[in-house]
Amino acid sequence: MSSSRHAALVTGGSSGIGLASAGALVSRGFAVTILGRNEARLRNAADRLGAEAARHGTQAAVHAVATDIADPAAAHAAVAAHAERWGRLDVLVNSAGVLAAGPLDSYDAATVAGVLDVDLRATILFCQAALPYLRKAARDGRPLIANIASISGKRADAGFSLYCAAKFGVVGFTAAIQQELAADGVSACAICPKLVDTPMADWARSWAPRSSMLRPEDVAAAVLRLVDLPAGRVPAELVLS
Ligand SMILES: NC(=O)c1ccc[n+]([C@@H]2O[C@H](COP(=O)([O-])OP(=O)(O)OC[C@H]3O[C@@H](n4cnc5c(N)ncnc54)[C@H](OP(=O)(O)O)[C@@H]3O)[C@@H](O)[C@H]2O)c1
Repeated sequence: MSSSRHAALVTGGSSGIGLASAGALVSRGFAVTILGRNEARLRNAADRLGAEAARHGTQAAVHAVATDIADPAAAHAAVAAHAERWGRLDVLVNSAGVLAAGPLDSYDAATVAGVLDVDLRATILFCQAALPYLRKAARDGRPLIANIASISGKRADAGFSLYCAAKFGVVGFTAAIQQELAADGVSACAICPKLVDTPMADWARSWAPRSSMLRPEDVAAAVLRLVDLPAGRVPAELVLS
């Protein structure tokens, strides 16, 4: 266990926005734990983060944990594994997510549960599990929760009712904890990007050119901007459009 380095935990850190955010944090010298289900993708991501660290002249400090965050027990187990490895937690990025699209009557109960469990419930449970460590980190740092919501958490679109339900939930939850945790020196922000050029945006490729999308690095840069802000200046939400 090492407590000398500031440390971040990134759910969904094996792909897209989560991987870019982990890379940005590594470039700042953070030790990171990345989470995802697919072990090969996680290993590949850890290798890329190691290379990113080398580019910045820092020693790689990357811990990859394979876990399914749809399991309600995953949050406490993953945060405990992170704390065991790095000794502290300064930044939590909740990026893991799944997309569902289709008319309301197309969703079966398993799909409804699957989207809400990963996109909303896991976000809440990871914030809960991280809280004791984030409060501790406020003694000598500026702990931050960055919840990757979506523009679908701010704007309703037909055909996305389930995803909107989860992402509006993330935005409301984050605004509430931003108020609640201010006295502890812990900040929280829901980042709400429009389409981002990741595997999740594949459904839109027939009509949305790549050039119209944000890059995952744009969202990662927003995470770093939040990391740099003093606690009282972090907004409860940040729309990237
Ligand atoms: N791409 C966009 O256009 C866009 C726009 C706005 C907001 N967002 C939001 O941004 C976040 C990141 O999305 P992305 O675009 O980076 O997608 P992505 O490239 O598909 O990455 C999704 C990540 O979540 C992980 N994940 C999914 N289900 C999981 C589960 N049950 N347990 C553990 N890990 C799980 C995936 O790993 P495994 O598959 O290996 O588990 C992967 O690392 C999501 O919350 C998404 O809703 C995306």
